[in-house]
Amino acid sequence: MPGKNNTIVGTQWGDEGKGKVVDILSKKADIVARFQGGANAGHTIVIDGQKRILHLVPSGIFQEKTTCVIGNGVVLDPFGFLDELEALRGWDVDYEGRILISGATNLILTYHKKIDGLREKNRGAGSIGTTGRGIGPAYADKIARTLAIRISDLVDSRDDYNCLKVKLEANRIAKAHFLDDLSEKDQIDWDDLFSQLKEIADIFRPMMINASLFLDNAYKEGKSITFEGAQGGMLDVDLGSHPFVTSSHPGTGGALTGLGIGPKVVGEVVGIVKAYTTRVGGGPFPTELFDEIGETLYKNGEEVGASTGRDRRCGWLDLVVLRHTFRINGVEKIAITKLDVLDGFEEIKVCVAYMLDGEKITEMPVDMSRLADCTPVYETLPGWQDKTRGVTSLDELPKEAKSYINFILKQLGVEAALISTGPDRKDTIMVN
Ligand code: GDP
Ligand code: IMO
Ligand code: MG
Repeated sequence: MPGKNNTIVGTQWGDEGKGKVVDILSKKADIVARFQGGANAGHTIVIDGQKRILHLVPSGIFQEKTTCVIGNGVVLDPFGFLDELEALRGWDVDYEGRILISGATNLILTYHKKIDGLREKNRGAGSIGTTGRGIGPAYADKIARTLAIRISDLVDSRDDYNCLKVKLEANRIAKAHFLDDLSEKDQIDWDDLFSQLKEIADIFRPMMINASLFLDNAYKEGKSITFEGAQGGMLDVDLGSHPFVTSSHPGTGGALTGLGIGPKVVGEVVGIVKAYTTRVGGGPFPTELFDEIGETLYKNGEEVGASTGRDRRCGWLDLVVLRHTFRINGVEKIAITKLDVLDGFEEIKVCVAYMLDGEKITEMPVDMSRLADCTPVYETLPGWQDKTRGVTSLDELPKEAKSYINFILKQLGVEAALISTGPDRKDTIMVN
């Protein structure tokens, strides 16, 4: 009998609280699998006041019995990954044998990060505001095929025809014209990079699996699997706020191709919705607030990036965004996070439509660059003065907070799975 699976995806511009929700919803899971993105992700989990941030390791690692899988859709910085294992050891997490990586996962290496930085610099005022983690250049290599280096190449132990060596040399030649712009001291030492990779290859060898086969067998055995998205629907490379997006598919489709599974395996799709909206990096953001309210959301929400430490831009909840990302991901249930950040507001606004060229629209413009010309149409709801922070049952919520939640659910035609009322694992209302 197939197990009960769920796929957890961000529905805004990332940082919705996926780490916290995956940790909670994977309590009964046998496996938690990441399917896209890289160390651009920063997923925070707070347990008994102790804060931990993960970038590549799936957020199910703190549930003692889960096996964590990194899929072929992820771009993995092997040195960054090893730093994360060290952090796990520091937190006394026994991860031995519990982290497995698809052999088809592509690597992010030093040159990807340097090219990411150089390209951003060249974009000037039109820069994307990337995380600088080499994401775009690594996915570009993957799509261009021959320059991509995979986990299976890293662990290749043949001496006569060593894939890693051959591919590094191909990259050295192909990337010379990009890297020319680097100063002398920033140039890549290719021989040193090869030696460093050879040194760490043995650590990765026992972790390498055929993730597609592993998950298919687990599914058929009735094991339960949680699929963890990184980023959010508005950062999807095709369907997000292009070109201010990441280079992967952070949604349900990405789970299929990023792990090699069929559509039935993804199970129930849970969209994570922050009770307001944030965005980090460049690009249009119709409900962004530049006033005291925006400042309060930023302060109360502690909206500082978990990966790069950059300030996040803040604004009201945007239902046009959510209609779009719910549709492209087939969201069935939602987890509303950071409800407590709205405590104490006199009134709360929700964007229900945009005005564009004098017309009211309720769906995203076809040309995403027009998002910059959209102005929000708001509905105003009453705020609440009592605290929701730390509340663990629906009954304890102020009636205005319940109305706010019900308004969102009704507008979007979905049910709530949980409501998060604080960063800690325990600050949670389990609904469904
Ligand atoms: P992710 O990338 O989607 O996993 O989200 P991040 O970890 O980047 O950002 C979410 C931030 O909000 C983290 O600092 C979390 O600890 C915090 N957080 C999550 N849920 C809640 C909540 O319900 N209330 C508050 N106040 N903070 C939360
Ligand atoms: P999590 O998983 C928020 C944003 C960057 C930039 C754009 C492209 O923590 O929600 P990239 O480095 O991917 O080429 O940057 O995407 N971005 C994120 N924003 N949360 C994230 O991940 C993000 N990952 C990338 O800020 O605007
Ligand atoms: Mg994050």
